[in-house]
Amino acid sequence: MRICIVGTGYVGLVAGTCLAEIGHRVVCVDDDRQKIEVLQGGRMPIYEPGLDELVARNLRENRLAFTADLKEGIDAATAVFICVGTPPLEDGDADLSAVEQVARRIGELSSSYKLVVEKSTVPVQTGKWIEKTLMVYGDSGRSEFDVASNPEFLREGSAVIDFLHPDRIVVGVEHPRAERLLREMYEPIIRRTFVCPVHSTCPATEPVPFLVTDIRSAELIKHASNAFLATKISFINSVADLCELVGADVELVAKGMGLDGRIGRAFLKAGLGFGGFCFPKDLQAFVKIAERCGHDFRLLREVDRINQARVPQAIRRLKEQLWILKEKVIGVWGLAFKPDTDDLRYSPAIALVKQLLAEGASVRAYDPKAMEKARGEIASAIFSRDPYEAVSGADALVVATEWREFEGLDLTRVKTLMRRPLILDGRNLFDREKMRSMGFEYLGIGR
Ligand code: UGA
Repeated sequence: MRICIVGTGYVGLVAGTCLAEIGHRVVCVDDDRQKIEVLQGGRMPIYEPGLDELVARNLRENRLAFTADLKEGIDAATAVFICVGTPPLEDGDADLSAVEQVARRIGELSSSYKLVVEKSTVPVQTGKWIEKTLMVYGDSGRSEFDVASNPEFLREGSAVIDFLHPDRIVVGVEHPRAERLLREMYEPIIRRTFVCPVHSTCPATEPVPFLVTDIRSAELIKHASNAFLATKISFINSVADLCELVGADVELVAKGMGLDGRIGRAFLKAGLGFGGFCFPKDLQAFVKIAERCGHDFRLLREVDRINQARVPQAIRRLKEQLWILKEKVIGVWGLAFKPDTDDLRYSPAIALVKQLLAEGASVRAYDPKAMEKARGEIASAIFSRDPYEAVSGADALVVATEWREFEGLDLTRVKTLMRRPLILDGRNLFDREKMRSMGFEYLGIGR
């Protein structure tokens, strides 16, 4: 199938590359010419494990192309995916101006049938607006449109695997033709018939559930899924606070809860809270759209409030130990919003560093992948070459992102390098008893 992807952010780039990987002809369009040149040259604008090889191979084998010319992308395609950004406005609402603009241009430029698929995370009822826009700006004599919603559930850091081996594929359609095209497009993933670039043998054999709904329900499935996962995190973080007060261990509580199949272990990791460009903004946008429709989603406002209190609380705990932060040296391990990405957007680690700097502390930061991007964000921090340099002479260390490489470090060396062996383990990465027996003053989250 010939596919055009508009927008080469995380979702667009991964979706386009993976659709090429399973055999389609894909043209990815972006109006950022510099980014397009980078991609045409086979280089990556983001760090995402495994994606660079897939892009390079599909470029070489002519299944994937990048262009800044939207008409070129649309002309060649039957299906056009809208994957542009929906950043937050001041009031928390999603800014849909890029979605509207792309829909308008698709209307104006199309000269034959197009299936227009919204893949960006958008508030419910956006599909209806896309349809209206296509009708207003399209030439009904030349072109015909179906609109569909096909939300994406990939996670940064494991995006390729998530796209190729999803838990489910959701499509919201109003016309059987749209359902047929999308089913055909995803057939290799549903039936697991493609040659997997990640696993030598496919990890699962059952077909992937393909859920067909109306457009509004598909839009809600995306927002509701992210909001539910965020709720689990804020829930366990509140339990962690209680654990600290009563002397229980949140890791054990989460384990015991998670063994109940109805609850599950996932997303019950207590810590500095959730970040990234999805949960915080999607939560706010979901609350906003609900409000506009006359529903006060109080539960989610509280989820957000609990999350926003995580970093200030960590700062308070450091102050309880260090008294004054001014001129104290604080090592910070991890800057990305989670491991295996260089994405800093809404990163709790960056919020923490900013607050430490505002208190007058001297921050020595280290992250395996996000250092370059961080320089612009926290310019007055000292960027260390490795995790050891970050703790040298430090009065405390904060583990802000749970990169695997931190687990294997020589902790005896870490302790010797620090001025005071105080660790605030913001992601409960280390074994509390082991750390204490080594002589660290160890503070975890909810333990
Ligand atoms: C999230 C969803 O998991 C994806 O399904 C969705 O497609 C994506 O948003 C999106 O809407 O595009 P992502 O933001 O990449 O994916 O990252 P997650 O792995 O979900 O983590 C989000 C944040 O929650 C991170 O800051 C992470 O550290 C935090 N988290 C996660 C916890 O604090 N505790 C947990 O138990 C799990």
